[in-house]
Amino acid sequence: MNEDALREHIALIGKSLYDRGLAHGSAGNISVRLADGWLMTPTNSCLGRLDPARISRLDAGGKLLSGDPPSKETFLHIAMYQERAAAGAVVHLHSAHAVAVSCIADVDPGDVFPPITAYAIMQVGKLALVPYFPPGDQTLADAVRKLARRHHAVLLANHGPVVAGATLEAAVNAIEELEQTAKLVLLLRGQPVRALTAEQVAELNRRFPG
Ligand code: 13P
Repeated sequence: MNEDALREHIALIGKSLYDRGLAHGSAGNISVRLADGWLMTPTNSCLGRLDPARISRLDAGGKLLSGDPPSKETFLHIAMYQERAAAGAVVHLHSAHAVAVSCIADVDPGDVFPPITAYAIMQVGKLALVPYFPPGDQTLADAVRKLARRHHAVLLANHGPVVAGATLEAAVNAIEELEQTAKLVLLLRGQPVRALTAEQVAELNRRFPG
């Protein structure tokens, strides 16, 4: 896809997320890697009403070349890209169920979700919890950087999920799977759960690597 098509694609995906209640107000941000920099959704923009022409164009150093001022989470997106050479897109949301799980006190920070479905294993993998830091703070980007090499999906405590993918399509599919899994985990709270076994998880990882 050329840059114009990518801009249209970001706006289309943003509207789709917004229309289905996965993004609201000015929460969330989307970026795509280019050969020599990034496209980044502008700060304080609504993902449901993005103007493709005003999406921020950053150079390889993260400097704004054109468009509106970029998301305050730009550092965090760039940290993901720098740690994950194959990442072509990063999506961050404040989707309700994932945020709810990010506020639960007793989750395993190395693997937030129990292994309940095959698709969560295949598309989200081991979801790591990033300790709480204020939105847009360099400390938050630094904390994500520490986990990004081992996890393409992380959950910012009391904030929301961040997912990297080879393409925007892959990153969005994975963050939607993450949100769906969070919803299932909340629906199942207090119920006896038949989780997948370690062997079943290993088999999925063998069949569907990466
Ligand atoms: P921006 O409006 O700067 O992209 O920030 C929104 C957000 O989701 C912060 O975490």
